[in-house]
Amino acid sequence: MTRRSVLASGAVTAAALSGPMAIGAAPRAQAVPPAPVAVKFEVNGKIRALSLDPRTTLLDALREHLHLTGTKKGCDHGQCGACTVIVEGRRINSCLTLAVMHDGDKVTTIEGLGTPDDLHPMQKAFVAHDGYQCGYCTPGQICSAVAVLGEIERGVPSHATADLMEVSFSDAELRERMSGNICRCAAYPNIIAAIRDAAGKGDKA
Ligand code: FES
Ligand code: FES
Repeated sequence: MTRRSVLASGAVTAAALSGPMAIGAAPRAQAVPPAPVAVKFEVNGKIRALSLDPRTTLLDALREHLHLTGTKKGCDHGQCGACTVIVEGRRINSCLTLAVMHDGDKVTTIEGLGTPDDLHPMQKAFVAHDGYQCGYCTPGQICSAVAVLGEIERGVPSHATADLMEVSFSDAELRERMSGNICRCAAYPNIIAAIRDAAGKGDKA
């Protein structure tokens, strides 16, 4: 008997072949979840200790385990920037990194920048300039914008930097640096105005 004749006889359907006990296949081992891993990091100034499945992203650790839901899950694929947080002074997409990789790190989320009664200057500027509509992208935009000002201050160049020896503040720099943060409400002009304002550069180019 050949494989072809077995298939032609109809005795084995495609569904049976793709099932867990396909003819000739060894029984699959039951998937065993990996052992939890202890992670400790500082989130918004507080030490947080968790026991996590090592596959947990930083985004899920923040949202699902620490209930810091200000950080948003947009695409979960590193494409929208809604999940941006600041880790050790650098902005990152928290959906693209595992929580266990940040053991010992300092993490700042939107909740750690300011409170409703005591807004961070960047949060105030976003309110003053209507830098949002639905607000879903806004926590990521604000975390990113805060980190962008730090990047420019430290002289970190971007693709839009004309003179690598002197990184200057410009709308071109802001647009390039904020290009990883998508706003489907298209509040972009107001976001740029807000960042200029928070940087003390006025709200007009
Ligand atoms: Fe992380 Fe979109 S949710 S980049
Ligand atoms: Fe709605 Fe940006 S304010 S997606």
